[in-house]
Amino acid sequence: MPSGRRIMQRCEALALHSEQGGGLTRVFLSEQNRAANELVLGWMQEAGMQARLDAAGNVVGRYEGERPGLPCLMMGSHLDTVRDAGKYDGMLGVVTALECVAALHEGKRRLGFAIEVVGFGDEEGVRFGTTFLGSRAIAGTLPPAVLEAADGEGTSLGEALRRFGLDPARCAEAARRPEEILAYAELHIEQGPVLEAEGLPVGVVSAIAGFTRLRVTLKGRAGHAGTVPMALRRDALAGAAEAVLAVERIARGEPELVGTVGRLEPLPGAINVIPGEARFTVDLRAPRDALRQRARAQIEAALQAIARGRGLELGIEALQEQAVTPCAPWIIAQMERAIAAEGMPVRQLASGAGHDGMAIAAVADIGMLFVRCKGGISHNPAESITEADAAAGARVLLNFMMNFSK
Ligand code: HGY
Ligand code: MN
Ligand code: MN
Repeated sequence: MPSGRRIMQRCEALALHSEQGGGLTRVFLSEQNRAANELVLGWMQEAGMQARLDAAGNVVGRYEGERPGLPCLMMGSHLDTVRDAGKYDGMLGVVTALECVAALHEGKRRLGFAIEVVGFGDEEGVRFGTTFLGSRAIAGTLPPAVLEAADGEGTSLGEALRRFGLDPARCAEAARRPEEILAYAELHIEQGPVLEAEGLPVGVVSAIAGFTRLRVTLKGRAGHAGTVPMALRRDALAGAAEAVLAVERIARGEPELVGTVGRLEPLPGAINVIPGEARFTVDLRAPRDALRQRARAQIEAALQAIARGRGLELGIEALQEQAVTPCAPWIIAQMERAIAAEGMPVRQLASGAGHDGMAIAAVADIGMLFVRCKGGISHNPAESITEADAAAGARVLLNFMMNFSK
């Protein structure tokens, strides 16, 4: 029987590997990432798996089926976090999948297919701005140009891979062929309020909302805060402030749309200097691609009008565009059967948050199980789940795995 207690303990153990004193921040290819990988590789070996770091920095454990070399049911989630994160976003899915394999191993059971558990290296995209680096490498869809993406210190992804002990020229070797993967199934916290509001421990994901990530630059003219009359200013931060409110106004205009400016950086950033430049990000999400694309066009038009009206220069860089990703009906059906078999009510719900399955969908059908989280809070150190819900999620995932068929 999978252990809710061990799941909680392992999420706690992973949370210790953080660059942030008194909180959790773990970005791709960092020393903290390396330490977390080591922990997970050890747990994979304890569960009777062959465990390795793949060419793109993902940790991959494999538990053979009745005979070696069979195609696999791939499970897992990500091991990187946002800044000042909670302990369960990503980690719960990796640790719970390992708990299910450990139950097989303890029972000396072999299935008609292999099981692979992946700890993806970069789902959040915090370090390099663009997300799903690990899962896109496994899907074989990572564009070589992304190796040039640089972090806040100007270190490119390629250089970071090299410093991590990997050869960027061989990153593509992480790619898997569709025939190797029967399906991908990820367990994740809901990161929303629905399951808790309805008193449900678990749910099945119907589809994952699409997203657009933009990096915007407004350039005006830096100047002396004490001497430049207001009418003569080209204040980039004031323009960005107006832009933030425009994003909020446009997103509020559609119930299913959400828009966020998560980062805003005025330059040069001194108290007595009129900001000559302001850089900010836009994150747009919707359950329908046409709705999101319409909103993006409205936002870009609003930014152009603000820049024109303030004599600012506008730059918009499209960091990433990800279409809505449906989960496969045949996997949803098997997940719903597993939930019912474990005596829990069945509930389908959409995911507003993005997940690695959006990338893996290029090579395999995907399914997702959600576990209730307190207040729906996530991307926040207050993120929390109960041991009972961790155990419930593990029982459902194990039932799904034991009865999986394609
Ligand atoms: O941003 C997201 O939706 C995910 O947490 N990366
Ligand atoms: Mn997240
Ligand atoms: Mn996540």
